[in-house]
Parts: sequence; structure tokens; C-alpha cells
Amino acid sequence: IQETGFARELITWYRAHKRDLPWRETKDPYKIWLSEIILQQTRVQQGLPYYQNFVSTYPTVFDLANAAEEEVLRLWQGLGYYSRARNLHATAKYIAEELNGTFPTSYKELLKLKGVGKYTAAAIASFAYQEAVASVDGNVYRVLSRVFGVSEDIASGRGQRYFQELANELIPHDLPDLFNQALMEFGAMHCTPKKPACTTCPFVTVCEAYQHEMVDKLPVKTKK
Ligand code: ADE
Repeated sequence: IQETGFARELITWYRAHKRDLPWRETKDPYKIWLSEIILQQTRVQQGLPYYQNFVSTYPTVFDLANAAEEEVLRLWQGLGYYSRARNLHATAKYIAEELNGTFPTSYKELLKLKGVGKYTAAAIASFAYQEAVASVDGNVYRVLSRVFGVSEDIASGRGQRYFQELANELIPHDLPDLFNQALMEFGAMHCTPKKPACTTCPFVTVCEAYQHEMVDKLPVKTKK
């Protein structure tokens, strides 16, 4: 499938099938950042009430920055990985105090924030600022490896670079936010690890993995 064709089909699928999630209704980088930190090691259904609670308790980065650490950790209780909550609070203080409450506005600058890796920086940059950089996670490896028949090892640096470059070539510059949301949603809901819904897949006729009966072999992930 051609690059523009893939993006267009994917976004069409997304518009018809997407879940309504509150962080998809905002362009506020603070709320997007908050949602992405919560979702880093947490499923959507588990993270949702935490997101709602954080946004209503701390509507702005200043409210979070001014909160007591113990209170932030208490709100985080049940999510695990408490370093995420400590980084969240430290980064809020940094943005409030050193950046006057203004979030960095580019992928490159967002990457410098504590707790913000490539995936999260790309998500914020595309959702809040329409920067055309792909957010690549396990869902994205799965979809791209199958549709495009890529058997690069996703546990290797080379494999990860390959998928990042492929995704950056596929992302349309006029709709980078929708593309990133659509790709992660398609991987989470349709092109799943077990029992993917190939019979109703918009890519079934072009999917390399499906054509070659490789769906359950991709992505390739060696143990490290
Ligand atoms: N997981 C990580 N980021 C997400 C997002 N923006 N929407 C749904 N699930 C996600």
C-alpha cells in the first residue's frame, strides 16, 4: 500500500471506530502530557478515572506544581511506578517556575523534560502543536510490521529506528495528530496481538502479513 493511501485509510477507520476519550478533546499540552504520563504503563480503562481526578484537582500546571508531593502521590495510589508521579510533580514545578508555565512547543524541547521519552514527546508535539513526528509504541510496531511485512527485531536499536523512520514517512503533515491517535487506536482495538480482526480489516487485501500467513509471526521480538 502507498504511504498516502495507508494514512488516509487509517484515519477513515479511526473516525468511524474511535473511542471518545477526554484527552482527545483538548489541545492543552498540560492535559495531554498528564494523560500520556498516566498511560505510559497503564491501560486506558484503568487510567481514565485517574486522569479525570488529576484534571479536576489540578486544572493547570501551576495547581500541580503548587501541590504537596504527598498529595500527588496519594492521587497516584493504585497506578504503580511511583517514579512517574515524582517526575510528574518535578516537571510541573520546572515548567511553572522556570518556564513561567509555558510548555515546550517542539518534539526536541519536549524530549528534555524528565519522564518524557520519544513516544511521549511525539504524542504531545503532534496532539498539541500538529508537529509531524510519529509516536511509536508496541501497538505501532505491531500494525506496521504486519501491514508492511517488516521483520526487523523490535528489541533492537536498529529495528526501533527502522519503525520510527517508516512511521515518520507515513505521517501526513496536514493531520499528524489524527494519524498518531489512529495508529495507536488501530493497534489497541483492531490489529491486536491475539485474534486480530483481519476479516473486517481495511488493509486485508494489501496486508503483507495476512497475504503470507505471517500475522501471528509479526512483530519479531527477540528476548534480550
Ligand atoms: N495510550 C497512550 N497514549 C494514548 C492515547 N492518546 N490514547 C489512547 N491510548 C493511549
